[in-house]
Amino acid sequence: MIIQMCGLSGSGKSTLARAAENVLKKQQIKVEILDGDEYRQTLCKGLGFSRHDRSENIRRMAFVARQLSKHEIVAVICAINPYEEIRREIAVSYPGVSTVHIDCSIEILKARDTKGLYQKAFLPEGHPERISNLTGINDAFDEPEQPDLYINTDTDTIITCTNKLIHFIHERLKYTEKNRMAKVFK
Ligand code: ADX
Repeated sequence: MIIQMCGLSGSGKSTLARAAENVLKKQQIKVEILDGDEYRQTLCKGLGFSRHDRSENIRRMAFVARQLSKHEIVAVICAINPYEEIRREIAVSYPGVSTVHIDCSIEILKARDTKGLYQKAFLPEGHPERISNLTGINDAFDEPEQPDLYINTDTDTIITCTNKLIHFIHERLKYTEKNRMAKVFK
């Protein structure tokens, strides 16, 4: 099974995925987190933040996720994944893909600003450190039209959000197993 998360930088994608992973591993459920920041230093090194490069970034991560999901590993793609078109493409390209929207208001993201990116995006035009293509501020983020799961990290605590994600993964695993058994006994 593949979970493609989407959400702005700092919304909590990796934090929630890692918290869920800790619990699921204790339940003997294999999980692999594909983190955008890590992939951009390795398999996706050299890709920037244009529409073309962001799309390529997600396609590569989804390909790896598919290789893992073939072996009963829950592959969680933690990337901004900003375009509805690409999310749909991934959802129809591989079996067992769910889209999870990790939402957070810009006000809270600006206040958290763990990487200092939002502060840089709000610098005046022409400032040498200004970021001119930060997703959600001056670059596109398509709101997911029908995510399979919606999580809001402003309004819910990390524990509540993590529990929602874990519950969702359990339900999907049950559904996958039911389908598998139905095929075996057909
Ligand atoms: S995606 O858009 O291609 O899905 P991805 O999740 O891999 O993005 O990488 C996002 C991370 O890159 C952010 O969390 C942040 O650390 C860093 N980053 C640097 N510049 C930008 C930018 N202009 N927009 C978004 N993220 C950026």
